[in-house]
Amino acid sequence: MILAIETSCDETCAAVADLDGTLRSSIVASQAAEHVAFGGVVPEIASRRHLELIEPTVRAALAEAGCVASDITRVAVSTGPGLIGALLVGVSFAKGFAYRSGIPLVAVDHLHGHVASLRLAENPPAGAHLVLLASGGHTLLIDVAEDGALTTIARSMDDAAGEAFDKGARVLGLGYPGGPELAALAVQGDPAACPFTTPLAGRTDLAFSFSGLKTGLSMAVTAGDNAPADLAAAYQEAIVDHLLDRARLGLAATGRTTLGLVGGVAANGRLRARLNELPANVVAAPLAWCGDNAAMIAAAAVNLPSLSPVELLGLDAHARSPLG
Ligand code: KG4
Ligand code: ZN
Repeated sequence: MILAIETSCDETCAAVADLDGTLRSSIVASQAAEHVAFGGVVPEIASRRHLELIEPTVRAALAEAGCVASDITRVAVSTGPGLIGALLVGVSFAKGFAYRSGIPLVAVDHLHGHVASLRLAENPPAGAHLVLLASGGHTLLIDVAEDGALTTIARSMDDAAGEAFDKGARVLGLGYPGGPELAALAVQGDPAACPFTTPLAGRTDLAFSFSGLKTGLSMAVTAGDNAPADLAAAYQEAIVDHLLDRARLGLAATGRTTLGLVGGVAANGRLRARLNELPANVVAAPLAWCGDNAAMIAAAAVNLPSLSPVELLGLDAHARSPLG
């Protein structure tokens, strides 16, 4: 069995899966409550909390899977991108576990993990496909070739989609994390009451941009002419319009006919409701696996090479990813 660990941001996660990827357990210990007062993740607090939570979280994942440490024959860990101090807790724990047990370790890119969350869907994409990854740190179009090779074909020029939700929520005086809060307020509003211009409208760059929207929202809030719910609805609609617009461009550019939607923002109800507008067979990651989790790290590890107990000692965490 494989033990997967994920600690790139403010969630301490562990999962157990069979070597073929069949999931046995997944635990996500969120620290969100500890960061609320600061309106965002405080890296130092996150690292310290991961240190406290990692062992009980792994124990809980083993217990939920009905197994013990000696049943584990492979360890997988997210090595980045993310907060370096947070990542190091998971990477160090994974190295220690694998070395002590004399078992191989698989280093998994966190973004690859999000892409692999599609394998946990009821009907995972078969063959080559395009993936829209929208999270708190990244907004990417990633092409997945027939052989599973990943190539990023579009990135954000400024903020990530999740960051746009979080910053928008802050401008509207909502809590953290902002995505779900802003989405909840938007349900009560009318997106047509004060529409925002879709970023990069009419342009064919394979890129995302969200910072102009945030400025537009700040100005509208300061002007005070619109109800907060209408502003939230219009702001969310512009983010969704932009994501769908770029996904359409990416599908046309690559000729792919299947699109996967992954990452924290993939949990957004309005985005999921409008996926049928896309000229593709769309597979969205199951809600439980949109936000950070270790089940997706286990899923990604299935087809990745592993480091031997000697090689793994040199493994390090990295803040950036070649995919990001
Ligand atoms: O993938 P994730 O858990 O962490 C990163 O790898 O960044 O994504 C977190 C992001 C946050 O910005 C959060 O506000 C956003 O996903 N998010 C949402 C929703 N749920 C989480 N954004 C919009 N609507 C949601 N329902
Ligand atoms: Zn993530």
